[in-house]
Amino acid sequence: MMNIPAIISAMAPQEKADLCSGADFWHTVALVHLGVPSVTMADGPHGLRKQTGGMDSQSEEATCFPTAAGAAASFDEELLYEMGCLLGDECRAQGVSVLLGPGVNIKRSPLCGRNFEYFSEDPYLSGQMGAAFTRGLQSRGVSVCLKHFAVNNQETRRMTVSARVSERTLREIYLASFEQVVKQARPWSVMSSYNRVNGEYVHASRRFLTDILRDEWGFDGAVITDWGACYQRVPALQAGGDLEMPGGSVYNTNNILEALSNGTLEPEVLDRAVERILRLAERVTQDNTAPEFDRKAHHEAARRIARQTMVLLKNEGILPLPKDKKVALIGPFVKSPRYQGAGSSHVHTEHVVSVWEASHAYGEPVFAQGVAADAVTADEHLLLEAVEAARSCGRAVLFMGLPDSLDAEGSDREGIDLPAAQNALIEAVAAVGVPTAVVLVNGSAVSMPWIDRVGAVLECFLAGEAVGEAQADLLFGAYSPCAKLSETFPLRLQDTPAYGNFPGHGDEVDYGEGVYVGYRHYQKRGIPTLFPFGHGLSYTHFTYSDLALEQDKIGEGDFLTLTFTVKNTGAVHGAEIAQVYVAPRNTAHRPEMELRQFAKAELAPGESQTIRLTLSERAFRWYKEGEGWLADAGVYDVRVGASSSDIRLAAPVTLEKQGFLKNVGMNTTLGDLLADGRIRPYVQGMLASLPSLAVGDVFSQEQFIAMIGGMPLRSALMFSQEFTPEALLKMIEDLNTALENGTHGTV
Ligand code: BGC
Repeated sequence: MMNIPAIISAMAPQEKADLCSGADFWHTVALVHLGVPSVTMADGPHGLRKQTGGMDSQSEEATCFPTAAGAAASFDEELLYEMGCLLGDECRAQGVSVLLGPGVNIKRSPLCGRNFEYFSEDPYLSGQMGAAFTRGLQSRGVSVCLKHFAVNNQETRRMTVSARVSERTLREIYLASFEQVVKQARPWSVMSSYNRVNGEYVHASRRFLTDILRDEWGFDGAVITDWGACYQRVPALQAGGDLEMPGGSVYNTNNILEALSNGTLEPEVLDRAVERILRLAERVTQDNTAPEFDRKAHHEAARRIARQTMVLLKNEGILPLPKDKKVALIGPFVKSPRYQGAGSSHVHTEHVVSVWEASHAYGEPVFAQGVAADAVTADEHLLLEAVEAARSCGRAVLFMGLPDSLDAEGSDREGIDLPAAQNALIEAVAAVGVPTAVVLVNGSAVSMPWIDRVGAVLECFLAGEAVGEAQADLLFGAYSPCAKLSETFPLRLQDTPAYGNFPGHGDEVDYGEGVYVGYRHYQKRGIPTLFPFGHGLSYTHFTYSDLALEQDKIGEGDFLTLTFTVKNTGAVHGAEIAQVYVAPRNTAHRPEMELRQFAKAELAPGESQTIRLTLSERAFRWYKEGEGWLADAGVYDVRVGASSSDIRLAAPVTLEKQGFLKNVGMNTTLGDLLADGRIRPYVQGMLASLPSLAVGDVFSQEQFIAMIGGMPLRSALMFSQEFTPEALLKMIEDLNTALENGTHGTV
């Protein structure tokens, strides 16, 4: 344990200013005479990238696990926890104390070049995945650095761009994934992003770094800038940003010292940042042993994890492939697999196994190159060779995907198509008429104009060093695929939520689609997709039954527990990811439904499992600017599905609110009054006693109330002879008194 107050009081101002930026690219400053060690950081998050030198240097050999895009398709918190633990062990063995990840930014558009490093278009899934990973890594005494906080959803002009985004959209979509990780897993550090939000640099935003992150969510760790993001050093400290990375420039350190001496920076503000950086050093260095880890076991884990990240999008009886039979494996990625993206997350690994090597254990593969990975136009010779291989083998699997340059940090894609030569090759092989499957490697959604002409599609994302083994395991049926899409695959780029608003113009990008991101957008607008969020097939089948909600009425702030049963009705072992969505009946201002829970059940043939889940009160809420998280009274459907468009079970629950109205005035509507349990009986009695509001034969009471529900009280003067202005004012006064005396909560 360090005596942090004593260390701070022994530090000179220069030492404090020095500590607030890195010693170099990957280390914090050590204060040897005060017993403060340097903290070593390294990139991740799907593998350790411990560099031996600066930005472009080689890194130590490490295990490359599936990138976040695939990891999230597992919908498996235990798996993410395990991945965090394994990475923690590698970090410890290499003396790394902070791993720069996970990235929980939302996939606003499939075009973002770093989508492969992010989990999902859905904040709940992103948050759960990030929290599980954080718990795993930190259980090994290694800190995560949760990134990139916040609203860093594109690579184009990422250091200067400003996102114009509403408060509601921020809270419900872009901050929600961070909030979940901070509240559930308590990360020890967070990385502030390069970009601006509504004109303000996040690294120097008091609102983001202190008001929201610390005061609202309870974050108690250190805020570290993204590398080179610290443009406003003194305002960043004042905002709650602590450590500037990397180090090496005296410019910002001098700014701190100057501000201290001219009084624009209070010494306590600097001390606060110093304290948090010391606390980080203390948290991560309690145990200085550097355990060995079993590299082979980590590779096997990477293979087991990878199998659970590959999504079977389509299968018309083509897969699994028969064993010990000839099969044409076609494409550039058969012998040279793609398994990770380009940029700071790039892992140096020497254990990559191609599907070519791995499939010899199962069948008799025949290779044809077919096309070069980045070729724009088809090579006739290669194409004919591939067609011939397919014909002579009687079945073909095409390994297609994006070239390296299109899943890359620093740039965004311009379209969602595969290179044209690959699409042409798929069409040519499919035209042979033998069973044909396509295996895809890409960091984010791609279009599939040939989808109707192939029999199966296995989406592998960027699956890490065991990619080929995992592909072979699934293709030949040693295991059944079980992953589901963590992002929607659109039919056309024009259909995507941010189309026309991505990547913005110059340094402005307008998040005009608001909360309608991913499936929230496609469902709201009724836009058909290629494959919906949550979709994924298996070699077996599952039935869903017996949905039961433990309560059919809940109050604001209550939890709701539900149970349902999933049964494996097919012939092979498999795992099913069941998704729970909450759908408000009143969707005028809300997405049709939102993912609020999920569970994965591993089942032998004939086996069933009852799944019990709890929905938190937040599951029903939306964010209203100026008022916070609101839970509207009304009926909600709890939907349980195999995907967002394959809902198998549903049951309604009524959310009752007692404390709804703050006060009654001339513009309060009859509907508002009837929705508030405290005064509903009073209002119903009053309606019944007014002869001029008699319902008569034409309407039912319900229809009548629906019709007049939107009328403000002041309309009573126009529609009802019983009311004088004085009588109306008296009634409003009575209603307010009734509200004040309400038995439930504060008004
Ligand atoms: C990236 C971060 C990364 C850092 C250090 C930045 O450019 O945005 O994700 O952790 O570099 O390599």
